[in-house]
Amino acid sequence: MRVRIGAFALAAILLVSAGLAQEPGKPSAQRGALAVRGQPAMNPPTWPISAFADLWQQWGESEKPADFDRRVRERYGLHPAAYENAGLPMGLHQAQGSFGKGLTNDCLLCHAGGVAGQSIIGLGNSALDLQTLFDDLSAQSKLPIKLPVQLSYVRGTIDPVNPVTFLMTFRDLDLNLTGNDFQLDYSKDVVSDPPAWWHLKRKTTRNWTGGVNVNAMRIDMVNLLTPLNSPQHIKKHETTFADIHAFVMSIEAPKYPFAIDATLAEKGRGLFNETCARCHGTYGPDGKYPNKIVALDTIGTDPTLARSLTGKNIEILNKTWFAQEKNADGGWYTIAKTPGYQAPPLDGVWATAPYFHNASVPTVYQVLDSRSRPRVFTRSFRWEKEDYDTEKLGWKITVLDRPPDAELPPHERRRIYDTSLPGRSNAGHTFGDDLTAEQRQAVIEYLKTL
Ligand code: HEC
Ligand code: HEC
Repeated sequence: MRVRIGAFALAAILLVSAGLAQEPGKPSAQRGALAVRGQPAMNPPTWPISAFADLWQQWGESEKPADFDRRVRERYGLHPAAYENAGLPMGLHQAQGSFGKGLTNDCLLCHAGGVAGQSIIGLGNSALDLQTLFDDLSAQSKLPIKLPVQLSYVRGTIDPVNPVTFLMTFRDLDLNLTGNDFQLDYSKDVVSDPPAWWHLKRKTTRNWTGGVNVNAMRIDMVNLLTPLNSPQHIKKHETTFADIHAFVMSIEAPKYPFAIDATLAEKGRGLFNETCARCHGTYGPDGKYPNKIVALDTIGTDPTLARSLTGKNIEILNKTWFAQEKNADGGWYTIAKTPGYQAPPLDGVWATAPYFHNASVPTVYQVLDSRSRPRVFTRSFRWEKEDYDTEKLGWKITVLDRPPDAELPPHERRRIYDTSLPGRSNAGHTFGDDLTAEQRQAVIEYLKTL
């Protein structure tokens, strides 16, 4: 009897381990959840470990402040990691390089955020000051590196074009570190707010312009372009990015954490379906998402990001290894020039403030009444419950009566959103302007349920 059980157990173990042995070939959302936070670490260290703990030296302090952790969070827009991360906030992790351990960033620096007291993986980090973080860490490391491009102009947004243009100057089309005879166009004033990952599972195309197929995976591997990574190293991680893809496609939208008036929301549903659904789709079990890309003339929001994908950039990028990825029909996942911006799904829209691709509108209310949009504003960049505006749905802000002083230090200036600047217009999307105040309130109440 004992022997038989033993043999049975052994067979079971063999079967299970055969299953496990095959598993690495299959994309795994669990492995992807680790990969987006730097396990395995795919990029080499950029800064020494000590640079983070000593950041206060860049703040003009003579000793480490007692509230160092809080001040780090507020100055750079970082969130505590809810996982073991050697005391580092989300988005930074330790990595081993040829000269020892150091620090680098991962996807969660931009793709994990906080709202109404919760930290949420997959939410764009709307508090991040990427430029100040990189400047301070590099200064603290005494790194002689001066990037020729700016990484961000205003908090919570990124320029996604120029870093790729710069990093591709080192490589040929097949990513060899030989330099090349092409030059991607640099852009100016591109302001992009990382979209929530939980929308991906509804989309057929992605990115704000809708120019990339949602199943394309290599495109996110531009995050590995540092010249310290060999082409072999980058390409080897294609399976890791398949895991990441499985993970980002599995994320669900967070539920609205405050009370909802169900009767008002029901009224709003009807209005939404009449006025908004043709672009944003319908919700619930039979929900349909039309994946509509709306031309710049019709949408009227800031054209800078859409225009930064120049014909030349698209043509060159489509010849690189990143676009040599087979799609299900045997063709390639190429990047397309689109006429404008994709109307995003609105699941979890309560959490994704500020709104539009350039984060120029702090609340849903102001999205739906273009006359009420503030021209110059700032906010706490904290993400506690009291920083959330449950009436207008979005961030509580302070409206300012003029643009920031030219003398303000750059990190202070980046706290202020000035919609008169290029790339930062808050115009367009006037589809809610004709709603009455009551109707608008009902639509907002409905949006809380998505
Ligand atoms: C420095 C900030 C930053 C980092 C780091 C970053 N991203 Fe992004 N990501 C962005 C921005 C900004 C966009 C929007 C680009 C656009 O469309 O203009 C974006 C878009 C995306 C999208 C498309 C979302 C959608 O719905 O259209 C995916 C998927 C994505 N990133 C995955 C990743 C992965 C995986 C990593 C890590 C390997 C990563 N990103 C690292 C800033 C970042
Ligand atoms: C003609 C198509 C169209 C219609 C109609 C439309 N929208 Fe939009 N909407 C868009 C597009 C496109 C964007 C993205 C614009 C951008 O980012 O520049 C957008 C953005 C938004 C956003 C911001 C989303 C984000 O994550 O930044 C909200 C909220 C929104 N719309 C709500 C509504 C509501 C509510 C209605 C109905 C009153 C509506 N829209 C009608 C096309 C439309």
